[in-house]
Amino acid sequence: MRLLDGKALGETIKGEIAEQVAAMVADGERQPHLAAVLVGNDGASETYVRSKVQSCERVGFASTLLRLPETVSEADLLKTIRNLNDNPDIDGFIVQLPLPRHIRDQAILQAIDPRKDVDGFHPVNVGRMTLGLPSYLPATPYGIMTLLDRYGVETAGAHAVVLGRSAIVGTPMSILLSRNSKPGNCTVTLCHSRSRELPALCRQADILIAALGIPGYVTADMVRDGAAVIDVGITRIPDASRPSGYRLSGDVAFDQVAPKCSWITPVPGGVGPMTVTSLLLNTLQASKRTVSS
Ligand code: GUN
Repeated sequence: MRLLDGKALGETIKGEIAEQVAAMVADGERQPHLAAVLVGNDGASETYVRSKVQSCERVGFASTLLRLPETVSEADLLKTIRNLNDNPDIDGFIVQLPLPRHIRDQAILQAIDPRKDVDGFHPVNVGRMTLGLPSYLPATPYGIMTLLDRYGVETAGAHAVVLGRSAIVGTPMSILLSRNSKPGNCTVTLCHSRSRELPALCRQADILIAALGIPGYVTADMVRDGAAVIDVGITRIPDASRPSGYRLSGDVAFDQVAPKCSWITPVPGGVGPMTVTSLLLNTLQASKRTVSS
């Protein structure tokens, strides 16, 4: 069993980005600039956004964090988005999800200029990704594709089983893995809450991607010997022995599954850091205007 170490690879890629930024600045170009909009005080969202902003500093990007109260109206949030769309100093921006219930996610995501949509959530980017055209790839699937690529995990002809069909992880993951590219060329099975015989489907996987948000769901009996297992789950479990008051749990029962695997991602330190790195890669691309939507 070998670890797909997202923390280490994320650091390597951040170093590569930092070098490119230094070269851009030496050439008289300005630094790439990412903005993040955070609505309300959700603890997990705060942590993710802080990590995104800190990573910007690490690679030499400018960053702006816009905080809005939980009670902000949809109209006011749309106004903020229009300002970011029109601000030539901002290369790309994200609106951290989840949003409060009184705000429609799709109304917000569709208001983002696709050229600045570094989360890759706008229908234009989703459509371009599906057609294999240049686009911003959603950060989590992009990070997983980068892990598979840089660690040399063979995907061509492999059976990939994806657990979870969310719009930001499972569905785009299934599209990227099935594309005619490297990595890609998998036969993909996309599973969800209505799938029958899930353990039997999982046992067919050469590559198993768990993105359900159910801690410890994937057990050893569901994994074929030699499979590569990617754990997207990051559920917070209350734990009084930790200074933070919680620990993170993946969707995979790591200790029992790892010995059966060819490759496996740890939680934390696997997919999570790659997600942040992918957002930086998209922002770098945005600053170079290489994706024209
Ligand atoms: N919430 C959970 N994952 C994400 C993400 O990748 N982007 C944004 N904007 N919000 C999220």
